Amino acid sequence: MGSMVMKFLILQFLGFLLFEGFIHSEASIIRHTFVVKEAPYTRLCSTKNILTVNGQFPGPTLYAQTGDTIIVDVQNKGNQNITIHWHGVKMPRYPWSDGPEFITQCPIKPGGKFSQKIVLSDEEGTLWWHAHSEWSRATVHGAIIIYPKNGTTYPFPKPQAEVPLILGEWWKSDIQEVMEEFMENGRDPNNSDAFLINGQPGDLYSCSRPDTFKLTVEYGKIYLLRMINTVMNNILFFSVANHQITVVGTDGSYTKPLKTSYIAISPGQTIDFLLEANQKPNHYYMAARAYNSAPAVPFDTTTTTAIIQYEGNYRPSSPPPLPQLPAFNDTSALTSFAGSLRSLASKDHPVNVPLKISTNLFFTLSINTLPCASNNTCEGPGGNRLSASVNNITLQTTPIDILEAYYRQINGIYGTDFPKFPPLAFNYTAASLPVQLRTPRRATEVRMIQYNSTVELVFQGTNLVAGVDHPMHLHGYSFYVVGWGIGNFDKDKDPKNYNLVDPPLQNTFAVPKNGWAAIRFKADNPGVWFMHCHFERHVSWGMGMTFIVTNGNHPDAKILPPPPDMPRC
Ligand code: C2O
Ligand code: CU
Repeated sequence: MGSMVMKFLILQFLGFLLFEGFIHSEASIIRHTFVVKEAPYTRLCSTKNILTVNGQFPGPTLYAQTGDTIIVDVQNKGNQNITIHWHGVKMPRYPWSDGPEFITQCPIKPGGKFSQKIVLSDEEGTLWWHAHSEWSRATVHGAIIIYPKNGTTYPFPKPQAEVPLILGEWWKSDIQEVMEEFMENGRDPNNSDAFLINGQPGDLYSCSRPDTFKLTVEYGKIYLLRMINTVMNNILFFSVANHQITVVGTDGSYTKPLKTSYIAISPGQTIDFLLEANQKPNHYYMAARAYNSAPAVPFDTTTTTAIIQYEGNYRPSSPPPLPQLPAFNDTSALTSFAGSLRSLASKDHPVNVPLKISTNLFFTLSINTLPCASNNTCEGPGGNRLSASVNNITLQTTPIDILEAYYRQINGIYGTDFPKFPPLAFNYTAASLPVQLRTPRRATEVRMIQYNSTVELVFQGTNLVAGVDHPMHLHGYSFYVVGWGIGNFDKDKDPKNYNLVDPPLQNTFAVPKNGWAAIRFKADNPGVWFMHCHFERHVSWGMGMTFIVTNGNHPDAKILPPPPDMPRC
């Protein structure tokens, strides 16, 4: 009791010093070196070389406080081109280090280096970094943990410990070969062979028994788990046997506490949750497996596990109890979880949802087909190759990056005609659609947005080729998810049900299968910002587009100059 009083008095005193300005909580600069290189890893009883950062898989965790700047010296000692992206970091006015290949930079070639500056602003919670070049993000990724600034604290009880939970994916074959093969044959990529928690498939696989990730907990204590979905092609369901959990954050921002028995998490997304060790001392499984909405799309049906083990003297049940996960095709489990997230919307963490919209955008998201390259037959529908588009445009890569072309006013690299609305209106989610609508246009078009515009963007999934969910991700911004629904968006009716009070602030949101989602953001970050589906197969097929947010008039509203060591194409 006495020590509690002491603690309280000390905290009061520190608060007083802070209030009086005796302590300055200043942003720091943190330095790291990332050496990209091959390293041998053994999973599922076989060994292969994978591309890593510093030989680690998953890669190193970056720690920072809100508002800090991190400098990462990236050295490419691998045998392929690479770029690194800081997923969810807004990089105010500094797109140069953002990372998407041929959007904001040319790749770092083998033997090359690039010193990247990661500019944190209001992000707080869990984000991550990953390679943004072909399919190398399968093994090149890691967590970014952003603590509250000195003098501030979590809007929830202080946890006993904090633990990253990185959900990943493993192929027995080389990931570059998986990519090249499906790009060549025109069909869906081969499934992975396992999902992973913190790099391990878990002890349902006999050869990974000793290395399964285990979290030791003390009865009565609360643990903060920082979950990241790094997998390539699947939304995942996750649950802990016998425990309810409390979601407290997503994508580097706080949410209202949400009690739940499971999580649905999209590739790209992060979920922070509290686990209270309040069950009978035992060992319990936590487990994750895929959600899959398109019956025709093959997918990895395996389950990955890790273990929560209570401290103390007892005989654990063997095997530990497994949690119940929603069925593979349980769309309502996905939407009801995603639809329950709310911004914290407190005095310290207010929301700022744009209420007056100056720019309305409506983008269809489609799976398409394109004719196979001459005198070949492809293995996609009707002997064609699978493709994908936003507003019927399938993204073509450019010889130099779009940012460079924009900044130096180099013509002929991209057009500025990305359509605000689909070129053709049709019943997007009809059960059957004319085959002629399946062919997209190939182009590199950007959408220009005036600085400080207030943007509403409605994504509309279509049922072309196959209706499927699309976890859409925007670089350079977080956005408020103000509404979503199944079927076609109704511009007269649906906006009436928008949540403009406490919508979740996210950087990735899964537009449900044959459904829509509406997001809002204020375009106050000038730069060149990629937006794409975070399913790797879809972005490889062309489901991405680029926004250019113009400079404002004020000197503080312009893109900063590029660093001297930008990689050359
Ligand atoms: Cu997490 Cu453009 O990516
Ligand atoms: Cu997609």
